[in-house]
Amino acid sequence: MNYKIAKTISAKANIDCLVLGVLKQELVSDLGKITDKALGGLLSRALDYGDIKSAAGSTQLVALPENQPIKRVLLVSNGDQKEVSRQDIHKTLTGCFSALKDINAKKITLPLSEFLSGDQSSSRMIRKMVEIAESSIYRFEDFKSEKAPSIKLKEARILIGSNDNTAEASQALKTGLATANAISLTKNLGNLPGNVCTPSYLAQKARELSEKYRHIKTTVIEEKEMAKLGMGALLSVSAGSRQPAKLIIMEYKGGKAKDKPHVLLGKGITFDSGGISLKPGEAMDEMKYDMCGAATVFGVMQAMAELKPELNITGMVSSAENMPGGKASKPGDIVTTMSGQTVEILNTDAEGRLVLCDALTYAGKFKPASVVDIATLTGACIIALGNQATGLMSNNDDLADELLTAGQNTADRAWRLPIWDEYQTQLDSNFADMQNIGGRPAGSITAACFLSRFCKQFPWAHLDIAGTAWHSGKAKGATGRPAGLLVEYLLNKLETR
Ligand code: BES
Ligand code: MN
Ligand code: ZN
Repeated sequence: MNYKIAKTISAKANIDCLVLGVLKQELVSDLGKITDKALGGLLSRALDYGDIKSAAGSTQLVALPENQPIKRVLLVSNGDQKEVSRQDIHKTLTGCFSALKDINAKKITLPLSEFLSGDQSSSRMIRKMVEIAESSIYRFEDFKSEKAPSIKLKEARILIGSNDNTAEASQALKTGLATANAISLTKNLGNLPGNVCTPSYLAQKARELSEKYRHIKTTVIEEKEMAKLGMGALLSVSAGSRQPAKLIIMEYKGGKAKDKPHVLLGKGITFDSGGISLKPGEAMDEMKYDMCGAATVFGVMQAMAELKPELNITGMVSSAENMPGGKASKPGDIVTTMSGQTVEILNTDAEGRLVLCDALTYAGKFKPASVVDIATLTGACIIALGNQATGLMSNNDDLADELLTAGQNTADRAWRLPIWDEYQTQLDSNFADMQNIGGRPAGSITAACFLSRFCKQFPWAHLDIAGTAWHSGKAKGATGRPAGLLVEYLLNKLETR
């Protein structure tokens, strides 16, 4: 969709649909009241019928009489309280665009005045608006012979207030679009089937990203070199598959040469069968989503290439397919990691930490300012936090707080879990330096404790997105989380340097 920033509704605007906000069954803004008056009270009468629900995001479409420059008005409820949370705002905008995408309107006008914003700035509201608009019209139908009828929406005019700064609004629009594109790319890669999206496919996508954006340089480390580097853990995961592992590095250099990079590392298991510790069959197809951490890194790197912040950011993806082939790792096998630490593999289904640990050691080579890994790491995280919050574990309080704040600001929230030393003993092995599973209690925490042993040299945070990266069931599909959180987190670095 096309977006424009405007300050006034021009007389010959030819608007298919104007959005007006409602609070407790009444129009919220002067614009709404003036429009209602000009229409002889048509809108307030429609509201009096009580058809619109008070829940945030409820909508009612009102057709206007002939000879009006505006064809319809979409009334959108902001909820029933003046105090709105970020979640309420999210619901209001989601309801608004979900209604708009289903009608026959091409050109719509969205005045900021219609949306209660709480303590959020106009810029933030514009970013949210664009993100949610693009999310609502997102579809994934590459593999459908017949596509659904195309969406009619073509142009959205965002009407800013007379006191708002147009240049700032345009910048917010750009940021919103780049974030929306990051979320779409994250969803697209996540939704691809495992027979298409292999580690080699991801490596190819990374090369294409660097061809498209000259600020990105891509390097792919192949299995031969991994062996030379001593990445025994990463190689133990790809051993049972016909697909070779790939360690993908995408460097974005927008900062000074001496600025330490912020590293993002994504888990890229393009299919997780569990390996020899084979998973049960039910919903096993969803393990194609075991590369959603990697997909997020692609999305965020693309956003950085579009927005060009003055930062150095290194996106890494550790990618393999976890399969039970003849050369697969077996329970009891012991491997040596790049760090020199040895690991007894007691369960081949705890493969995420194995592909990540060697990549984390490699990340140390960049002398990183920080490392954030993003991984669909543990089913236990879904038990702990459900599908609402991403699990956050970190060895650095400042970094953890930055990520929590970014999540709060973007309604893409994370919640921190502890990684106290007391948990570490669950990883004690009789035969190696550690084992790759820590038992049932605190499964997400012991997985993070395992990773922490490879992150002693830098501030590190781990995002467990097992519960947030995709929806199961009827609405099965990638969510694009936590791309929004991470774009926000990185852009915030610009202000705190
Ligand atoms: N990719 C899975 C985690 C997962 C499972 C994410 C279900 C989302 C939904 C991971 O590789 C895995 O299998 N983890 C095991 C670890 C266990 C063997 C210690 C798990 O969570 O069961
Ligand atoms: Mn697994
Ligand atoms: Zn996995």
